Amino acid sequence: MSESRAQFATRLGVIATTVGSAVGLGNVWRFPFEAGANGGGAFLLIDIFFVFVIGIPVICAEFIIGRHTGLNVRGAFRLLAPGKAWGGIGYLGILASILILSFYSVVAGWTLEYIFQSLTSFGGVDSVDGLHNQFDTFAASNWRPLMWTIIFLLFNYLIIARGVQKGIEKMSNIMMPLFFLILIVFCINSLRMPGAKEGLDFLFKPDFSKVTPKVALSAMGQAFFSLSLGLGCLITYSSYFSKQTPLVKTAGIMASLDTLVAIMAGVVIFPAVFTFGMEPAAGPKLVFEILPSIFMHMSGGMIWSTLFFLLLFLASLSSTISMSEITIAYMTDEFKFSRRKASITNTVTAIILGSLCALSFGALSDWTICGKTVFGLFDYVSSNILLPLGGMLISIFVGWVLNSKVVKSELSPKGSRVPMWVVKAIVFCLRFVAPTCIALVFLYGLGLFSF
Ligand code: PHE
Repeated sequence: MSESRAQFATRLGVIATTVGSAVGLGNVWRFPFEAGANGGGAFLLIDIFFVFVIGIPVICAEFIIGRHTGLNVRGAFRLLAPGKAWGGIGYLGILASILILSFYSVVAGWTLEYIFQSLTSFGGVDSVDGLHNQFDTFAASNWRPLMWTIIFLLFNYLIIARGVQKGIEKMSNIMMPLFFLILIVFCINSLRMPGAKEGLDFLFKPDFSKVTPKVALSAMGQAFFSLSLGLGCLITYSSYFSKQTPLVKTAGIMASLDTLVAIMAGVVIFPAVFTFGMEPAAGPKLVFEILPSIFMHMSGGMIWSTLFFLLLFLASLSSTISMSEITIAYMTDEFKFSRRKASITNTVTAIILGSLCALSFGALSDWTICGKTVFGLFDYVSSNILLPLGGMLISIFVGWVLNSKVVKSELSPKGSRVPMWVVKAIVFCLRFVAPTCIALVFLYGLGLFSF
């Protein structure tokens, strides 16, 4: 609808930026530790179910809203349902994006520390135990995690302040393929480790006795988090799509590549976990403890390690850019803030909340609410509650409220080759499957209801 809005320049740009938003710490850091804590194979299977049965239709729903309106999350719902409570979805998304940016920047900051550590070959430490302890020493130092969080947010600021195409698109085009290639090298390396069989069994052989409502809730949260879904990030990005962008295909490619990268990260991590005798359920520090041991056992370890953390840092940046864009588009569209002013507001808020998250592993580790640190709470509330809730409301909105002609013409515009049954299947999932599944997982997983 809005004609003057910036657009992505190329088809590759659309794929690289949406995949760039999806692929990041969610795949490489969050997926392995969540799978490790929730039974491995069964978690992966449920995650894949959510990605394909709920994820793809809800991605399409966000794309429909974004491209059709060409607006930010809040503005989009106001235009489509003026004066109705649906606008609340916009606020929910903005809140989720701020919470996620805050704790995500802390972990992205860890990648900066690890680039630095890689360059000095982890201070010459080469024993497995020594490398595993590096993380605790780092986290307990307080000021270093804090410093890296702030530095990361400043990098993020530099890009978001420059605008949509120039910053985001160019970087993603180069970085994403490179990241993929290097992961393949690490997969091959891990498959040759003594713990490979045990690791692969853990990841791919589902043990259904481990499936509890809590595991299902975590898998659902992981699917939404990893797909950048449920908070309007994809509404915002698709507001920059052109009329030629094929929505269903883009959603399919994005969900498949994102899942593939998570599985690859699992193939890198779990053989090493069993080879080096670590506990898969070690929590958020799992990946940062295990990766140095993997790299330092490869020939040319220092180079691999530096390259990997550098790419992980860039992959995190393409994700934080996308979550920042939610609030920036909101502030520039709705309050006529300049891009610079909106970027500063976003960054300052994230620095304040991010500092609390950064200290959650050191000075503030005793500050807990419901047994969770600030970091853990921000992650739990956003991933397991706000994103699926947003996803449920978005699917109900597009399935039941939005004019079905709009839905059809966005999914399968004139001249497109998307068959009608695909459109019908997506609408069916949005109307019935997604809302019911999410509601059930909520009721059981949050303990509001039990068998
Ligand atoms: N999907 C991103 C990742 O996996 C994280 C993210 C969540 C990005 C929400 C944008 C919005 O790293």
